[in-house]
This record gives sequence, C-alpha cells and structure tokens, in this order.
Amino acid sequence: MKKLSTTLVNMEVSSIRKLTQYAEAAKAAGKKVYHLNIGQPDLPVPREYYEHIRAFDEPTVEYMPSQGIPELLTAMEKYYQDHGFSFKSNHIAVTTGGSEAILLTILAMTDPGDEYIVFEPYYSNYNTCFTMSGGIPVPVTTNVKNGFHVERKALEAKITARTKGIIVTNPGNPTGTVLTPEELRMIADVAKENDLYIISDEVYREIVFDGREITSFGYLEDIHDRLVIIDSVSKRFSACGARIGAAITKNEELFSIIFKCCQGRLAVSTLEQHGAVGLYSTGFRVINEERAEFEKRRDTAYEALLKIPGLACSKPEGAFYMMCKLPVEDATDFLIWMLEEFDDEGETIMAAPGEGFYATDGLGKDEIRIAFIIKCELLKRAIEILGKGLAEYNKAKR
Ligand SMILES: Cc1ncc(COP(=O)(O)O)c(C=O)c1O
Repeated sequence: MKKLSTTLVNMEVSSIRKLTQYAEAAKAAGKKVYHLNIGQPDLPVPREYYEHIRAFDEPTVEYMPSQGIPELLTAMEKYYQDHGFSFKSNHIAVTTGGSEAILLTILAMTDPGDEYIVFEPYYSNYNTCFTMSGGIPVPVTTNVKNGFHVERKALEAKITARTKGIIVTNPGNPTGTVLTPEELRMIADVAKENDLYIISDEVYREIVFDGREITSFGYLEDIHDRLVIIDSVSKRFSACGARIGAAITKNEELFSIIFKCCQGRLAVSTLEQHGAVGLYSTGFRVINEERAEFEKRRDTAYEALLKIPGLACSKPEGAFYMMCKLPVEDATDFLIWMLEEFDDEGETIMAAPGEGFYATDGLGKDEIRIAFIIKCELLKRAIEILGKGLAEYNKAKR
C-alpha cells in the first residue's frame, strides 16, 4: 500500500484519551473507575434542547445554510448582546463544535511555518490544528506558583517575525485560570504592537468563581479587527454531544475565508442547530445554575486535594479543571499503575497526564489534570482514592 501522510502518521494522540485502553481493561476486570480525565459535565441538558428538536417536523432533513440557520444566528446574536458584546449575526459562523471553529480559524490564518504563541499548559487538541495547518505552537510557560497567569516579558520574548497570532483559552483548560482585565489589555496591546491575531477560546466563558466578572477580548473593541472568538454550547449547556460551536470575527476578510471553508463542508447538522436554538432560549438560567454547581465542586475537590501530602495545585478561578503537581517522577506511569495494579475496595481513578498539555519537552511529567465534573460525594471519594494510591505507589517504588 502507498504511504500515508507522514505528518498525520506522526501526529500524537490526544493526551486526554491516552489512557482509555487501561481504563477499559480495569473496568473489564471488574473495577469501578472514577473519570476525572474528560471535560464532560454530568448536568442535565436543558429540556428546551429536546423541545426544539421535537418541534422539527419537516418532510426532508435538508442541508442548511453554510453559515448556520437564521434562527440560531439570531439566538446567538441575542446572547452576545445580552452579555454586552457588539457582535452581530453576520460576524458568526456556526460550526460543528468549538473544535471545528478552532480548526477553520487556524487553517484560514496559517501558512506552513507560521508560529502561534500558546500559554502552556494549554488545551492539547490545538496541536491537531497546528499539525493539519503546518502552524507551530510556541509556548510561553506559566506555572502553578502564580496561578498560571501571564507576564508581558515572557510573552514578548517569544515573538518573532513568524508569529501569526496568540491563542488564549479564557477561562483556562487545563489550568482553571481566569485572566484579569489587565492581563487581557496587556495581551491585546502586545498583539497590536506586533500586528498579531488573537484567537480567544471562550468555551468556558461563564464558568468563573468567587464572584469574578467575565473577562473577554470581546469587550476590547480596539482589537476587534484582529480577534476571533471561539465558542461552543458544549460546556455552557452540558451539551457536548450536540456538536454546535461558532467562530466569531468582525474581520471581514478572515470571515470570508472561514466562510469558504464552511461552504466546503456544506453545513452543520440541521436538527442540532434547532436544539441549540432551544439551548440559547434559556438565557442565563442554566448558565447561573451551572456556575454555582461547579463552584461547589471546585471547593470540594480543592479542599480534598490539599490534604494529600506532597501534592501542589492552585485554586481554579474558573472552568472545571486543575493541574496538580504530584509527588511522583512520572505521572503517566502512576496513572497507568492506578488502573492496572491499584484499587481501593474495587475502585480506582483515571485522570489526564499533564505532559500532553505542554509543548516544552520534559515539562508536566509529574503533573495531572483533574476535571471536577462529577458530583461532590463522588469527587471526594475519587480524591480519597488518589491520595491512597499515591501513598501506596510511593511505598511500592521505594
Ligand atoms: C478549551 C477548549 N476549547 C474547545 C473545546 C472543544 O469543545 P467542543 O468541540 O465540544 O465545542 C474544548 C473541549 O474540551 C476545550 O476544553
């Protein structure tokens, strides 16, 4: 057989799913596995989602317009206006999840060799888009000691003539960091001074804790010509499987290229777009309930983690993740050991290895990402198991 794409053959698998085979084997062996590895909320999807899908009663499920159905574009425009943004429906391209919005945006901007600043640890699925487009991630390392916040000097030090843009995930996955208005202003100024695009992934926009205000590049009108916002219903409405997202930009040239790509893939699912109209019809009701629930889970997880000797983590300010430094040399080895060799009364846990969230070799080896997406009682138990596992692993390795 002819050789397949060298680039894609060599592409790394998502670190989030890397341990799945071990988890499957553990389950087949009768263990209960607490999943702290995947960012999929367990909250019920709002009933309006199904109501809108059920109300669809057309004789044919036709292709819809490539930009998205008008009802959804109007619903999204209302949502942004209610948040105080000035985006209109002609700035929005509906996509198959935020994932497709990221991919089309990076494809639309990139010539092979173009560099993108990322703040590591960062959402590792961006790497798929870099590989597909020929873009190169250039990491600015942030760390647990200052809550993974960003400094101007470190950012400026990584900018070269090849830098095309800065990718910001706010609130952060895997860090749970919410950037301050000052940090956003600083990044915006650096982008303006160096003529860079900003891709702002805001799929966790409203999940901010401790009474924080939502922060967004969307409020900085002076950079709207260089800004693309990535959005999604996945986390906001507990609807990961709906696969509805959006790329939003006022840059007309960039929008037209993203739109060309949208035309090339014809359209997004007709029924799911109707379901998404239902999701947005809930206004801030579901969003507010969700934020309160995740704050409780954040508190439960953080308190329990602090009790584990040798573990370091910073208190997440938003989203539903945290990076934890473990008292082990190789966190991936530890996680595999947890699935293969350890159980506490027939139960164990799975988390995401930290290494995959870094572009710099060697970083994150002793870290894991925990997603606090299960109920408080289950979280408490899962973290108890993590603590017991760490103690036993370190005894066994000594
Ligand atoms: C930061 C970030 N962006 C984008 C996505 C993709 O979301 P979706 O494709 O489900 O909209 C995720 C999913 O976990 C994410 O964490």
